[in-house]
Amino acid sequence: MLKNTLLYTGKAKSVYTTDNPDLLILVFRDDASAFNGEKIAQLDRKGKVNNLFNAFIMEKLAEAGIETHFEKLINPSEVLVKRLDMIPVECVIRNYAAGSLCRRLGVEEGKVLTPPTFELFFKDDALGDPMVNESQSIALGWATAEQLEQMKVLTYQVNQVLTDLFEQGGMLLVDFKLEFGVFHDRIVLGDEFSPDGCRLWDKETKKKLDKDRFRQGLGDVVEAYEEVATRLGINLDSI
Ligand SMILES: Nc1ncnc2c1ncn2[C@@H]1O[C@H](COP(=O)(O)OP(=O)(O)O)[C@@H](O)[C@H]1O
Ligand SMILES: [Mg+2]
Repeated sequence: MLKNTLLYTGKAKSVYTTDNPDLLILVFRDDASAFNGEKIAQLDRKGKVNNLFNAFIMEKLAEAGIETHFEKLINPSEVLVKRLDMIPVECVIRNYAAGSLCRRLGVEEGKVLTPPTFELFFKDDALGDPMVNESQSIALGWATAEQLEQMKVLTYQVNQVLTDLFEQGGMLLVDFKLEFGVFHDRIVLGDEFSPDGCRLWDKETKKKLDKDRFRQGLGDVVEAYEEVATRLGINLDSI
């Protein structure tokens, strides 16, 4: 599969067309960013670790019956995916309080959220990805009520599958963000699932093993991502 033209350069990945109009190539780069692009850095190996990590997770989700854009790994940095019409609304589930939820609502980090919360954010860098609700998303034409319902059901399914998976590796899935798109009228999971877009804590020590290490300047960012991968049995020998 040939990389044709560069379609989009995001904060962490570059998107290329291929000779098949239904397929794209995503290139995972080593760029890290936080606080809406205020803090940026190059983290050696991050792109490859996240690409292999994402491939493993997407395959687990497909095995559980969740349709994803993942087609196949091309090499440690590149993945072939279905070309989706992305819905500009990010879906977030939180199992424990952290990050913006603590700041906005004055909740202590680590508080168990039962049942897990579900939130929507408008994917717009210039606006800082503001929180939105269902009626706004429908009225502004970002998604239909039916699509939002499907996205919500799928996000809760992903939560079930991945909470169990990380639990087996001695980790708590604190929260995560998903992006969906439309492929031939179906809602399909797109983008990536990696420690860049979720929070993972060691179950016993509560050590942070995700992008909060970068946000909070805790160091050993990619080392932590690699530890998560190793605990899940992901083979990183090729990188
Ligand atoms: N299967 C797909 N089809 C089309 N676009 C996709 C697909 N998967 C992810 N994308 C989009 O490609 C971009 C990925 O690059 P990323 O660096 O994460 O960008 P961003 O800075 O917008 O988050 C995102 O805008 C994401 O929505
Ligand atoms: Mg992104």
